[in-house]
Formats: sequence, C-alpha cells, structure tokens
Amino acid sequence: MKYFLDSAKIDEIREAYDTFGIDGVTTNPNHIMNSGKPFKEVLKDMAAFVKEKGIEGWDKFPISVEINPHLDDADEMVAMGKEIAGICSNFVIKIPCTEAGVAAARRLEAEGIRTNVTLVFSASQALLPAKNGSLFVSPFIGWKENSGEDCKQYIQDIVDIYANYGFLGETQIICAAVRNGKQIVDCAVAGADIVTAGLQVFKDSMYHPFTDYGMAKFQKAWDNTITD
Ligand code: E4P
Repeated sequence: MKYFLDSAKIDEIREAYDTFGIDGVTTNPNHIMNSGKPFKEVLKDMAAFVKEKGIEGWDKFPISVEINPHLDDADEMVAMGKEIAGICSNFVIKIPCTEAGVAAARRLEAEGIRTNVTLVFSASQALLPAKNGSLFVSPFIGWKENSGEDCKQYIQDIVDIYANYGFLGETQIICAAVRNGKQIVDCAVAGADIVTAGLQVFKDSMYHPFTDYGMAKFQKAWDNTITD
C-alpha cells in the first residue's frame, strides 16, 4: 500500500519523503491556506522539490492539486485543470465528485491529464470516476468516522466493486482524511491502494510504547554483558 502525505507544506513533504519514503502528496484548498503561502508559490516550490529529488512525473511522485472549489462549470474546470497541469508534470488535477466535476475529469483524462476525483462519500459515487478512467478516486474516511460511521464496509465495497469490473489498479483508491493507525489498517485489510494522511498520523501509527520498553530492557542487558 502506498502512503501519500496530505499537506501543502514543503518542509513536511521533505521530511516525509526523506524519512518515510512517501509515494506522493495530496493537497486541498485548506492545506494550501495552512501553508501560509500563495497558491502559485506552493506549486512552484513543489515543482522545484520534485526536480531536486529527480522524481519528475505523475507516474513517479503524483501531487494532487485541487482546482478552485467555486468552479461549477465543466469548461472552466477543464481550463483550470490544464493550467495547473502545465506547471509541473507531477500535478494530478483534483476535482470534486459533482456532475460537472466528473465530466471535467473525463475530458481531462481524454487529453492525457491525470485526475483525482475527490470528496467521495459513498461507494456509488466511486463508480463513475473509475468508468471514466480517472487515475485516482478519493473516498474520505475521517470525516465519516468523526460523525459516527464505521468505514470498513464502505472501503471494502469500493475495492470489491472495482475488482468486479477490472477497475482495480487502473483507478487507484486513495483513502483520504485518514486520522489514525486503525484506519490505516482498515484500509490496508480492505485492499485499498493508498492512504493519505498528515505527517503526525504516520508518525503515531508506527509508534508503540512496548518498543520503547523493549529498547530500555535490552539496553540494560547490554550494559550488564561483556560484549568485547
Ligand atoms: C484528501 O485528499 C484530502 O486532502 C484530505 O484528506 C481532506 O481531509 P482533511 O483535510 O480533513 O484531512
């Protein structure tokens, strides 16, 4: 399973890449706002980062960049998608799962511009982006679980539907808004392709206090052993 970092902060992307070897990045307007930088400057920094690391191209290190969320016309969505895609070959155009959004994603894919259909909250919403050949679909986990839903079956249904119709791997399932290690495991057990989460979620998910306990115990043993 691939790990994507959900962030628009270049220092976090660098740390996650260098430390955990993350496979890609997802952003959204909220993350861009939280970076404290103008939209175009964030994109420029990301383009410089992939160049520095020698990972240029959406097939090596995809970076999802969301179009202006005020757009509700497919022509305008396509125009903005083309503009963003023209800045860097790593950029995948993130488009909301609305009628206009799905239509725009279909048109962009037909022109070789890769898309990520986002804000997906049901298995039925996940079908059309796959039929239309989007590279990614982003079902959200955290938002639903925050409001009391258990997402295990929802992710399993999307994986099973994709397997039934040969979409698996063609349209990769990014489990989005993942908040903790349990949700990562749920997505992995279901067979989802990718999880995207904040840096702290990945850090917390690989921590266990027994590892620290074991380290202390073995250090004590080491100190009481003749090791030369
Ligand atoms: C996914 O692609 C989204 O960017 C993201 O997970 C949205 O949720 P969050 O910002 O609440 O984590």
